[in-house]
Amino acid sequence: EAGMFNASDLVVDHNTPAYTLEVEELPLPQDFQWGTATAAYQIEGGASQDGKGPSIWDTFSHLSPSRTNGENADVACDHYNRTTADIKLMASLGVDVYRFSIAWSRIIPMGGRNDPINEQGIAFYSNLIDELLAHNIAPVVTLYHWDAPQSIYDRYGAFLNTEEFQADFENYAHLCFSRFGNRIRKWVTFNEPYIISIFAHLNGTLAPGHCREAGTDTKTEPWIVGHTIILSHATVALMYANEFRESQNGEISIVLNGHYYEPYDQASSQDRDATERRLLFYIAWFGDPVFLGADYPPAMRAYLGDRLPTFTTKQRELLQRAAPVNTYYGMNHYSTKFIRALSDPPAEDDWTGNTEELSINSEGKEIGPVSGVAWLRVAPEGFRKLLNWIWKRYRLPIIVTENGCPCSGEENISTAVDDKFRRWYFGLYLDAISRAIYEDGVAVDGYYAWSLMDNYEWSAGYGPRFGIIHVDFQTLERTMKNSGYYLRDTFIERRRKS
Ligand code: NOJ
Repeated sequence: EAGMFNASDLVVDHNTPAYTLEVEELPLPQDFQWGTATAAYQIEGGASQDGKGPSIWDTFSHLSPSRTNGENADVACDHYNRTTADIKLMASLGVDVYRFSIAWSRIIPMGGRNDPINEQGIAFYSNLIDELLAHNIAPVVTLYHWDAPQSIYDRYGAFLNTEEFQADFENYAHLCFSRFGNRIRKWVTFNEPYIISIFAHLNGTLAPGHCREAGTDTKTEPWIVGHTIILSHATVALMYANEFRESQNGEISIVLNGHYYEPYDQASSQDRDATERRLLFYIAWFGDPVFLGADYPPAMRAYLGDRLPTFTTKQRELLQRAAPVNTYYGMNHYSTKFIRALSDPPAEDDWTGNTEELSINSEGKEIGPVSGVAWLRVAPEGFRKLLNWIWKRYRLPIIVTENGCPCSGEENISTAVDDKFRRWYFGLYLDAISRAIYEDGVAVDGYYAWSLMDNYEWSAGYGPRFGIIHVDFQTLERTMKNSGYYLRDTFIERRRKS
């Protein structure tokens, strides 16, 4: 898992994948919402245009090029200067929804509650929203997709200082609700808190790569970061409910990611326990406090002891009041893994509940055909099971806020545009949603393909391409991939069948 974002993961040879599963084109509800998703740093470019301040990603990609495949997103897809054309192309697919993120340092360059506002940055998002609405596309806005203003990191360590971050994030969110909220029906506070906590503050593969600095503590800091995110989410959700929800008629929640897990050895009760524990460590870590207003799962406390922060009485009250504000579960999902229980005592900075992730089980069976990156294998049945797991635990309608894959051979434009593997992946994952809805009774309301276009895949740079639109990073030319047309057509077809 530590290798999740390495460019060297690119695996070639999709000419003979195990295409054993067939897409059935199963029905989806008529009001099922489909769309695409992106994040500011991955597509916008315009890194210092119109008064934008630096984010931790600008710093990370420039100061540590070895951690980002030598690449940065100063230009990326140049979406900042090509918004109108990009929206037109997206609209041609008939999407209902577009999920994008606001770059905090574009609208408050220094990030803090006493720092100046950048009206030019606000104008950019305001226009973007207006153009989407003019095409009948509903904007879904993520407030935080990994690009904290550098200045709040320099001043107090960003997520590492719970109270400071909570107050600055609340101020930033308040500004967004005030300026954009009259046109937004769906907000997301944070994208993938697990990744922010573990990958950015323990493994260090993502900005700010905090674990590699002197004086950092990987035993406790990732859990402090998680604590900060949970409390900041609750503060902002409650503030939205109190001040904006009624007049703006919108909803708010969080986006959690997570693989599904199967035991490495079905016959081993240790492996079966470890598998459930891994789901708790990954998803319920955030899901239980956010959606249930509960404490961290007892299994986490048992393994982490006082490495895991505790909620004060006041914080528990905040969580309980904020929990019912969340009206949906935002789910980012890509793949399934096998889990084996480790027999040695856990490492002192263990974050896995003493488990290990594998792609092959005790019988030598693979979880599924590999995509363009090693960490992502095609496993639609795991997706269906995870939809069920989430529904059973949280009882909230699920929106799949990200799903998709890169394919091998995509550096060649003709392979990239005739992306059979991606079409097949989408087809199977949509069948899984259909089964979850109609056979299992799970409420799934929407599906946003990751991503609208090829973009900057964080520490893997421009290597893996997740887009349904191809981007030539030399000329910045856009070309629709066949998977884009497939999604357009399959949603018409599947919704007609219901
Ligand atoms: C999760 C992240 O939210 C997104 O930024 C990333 O590009 C995709 N998954 C693919 O790894």
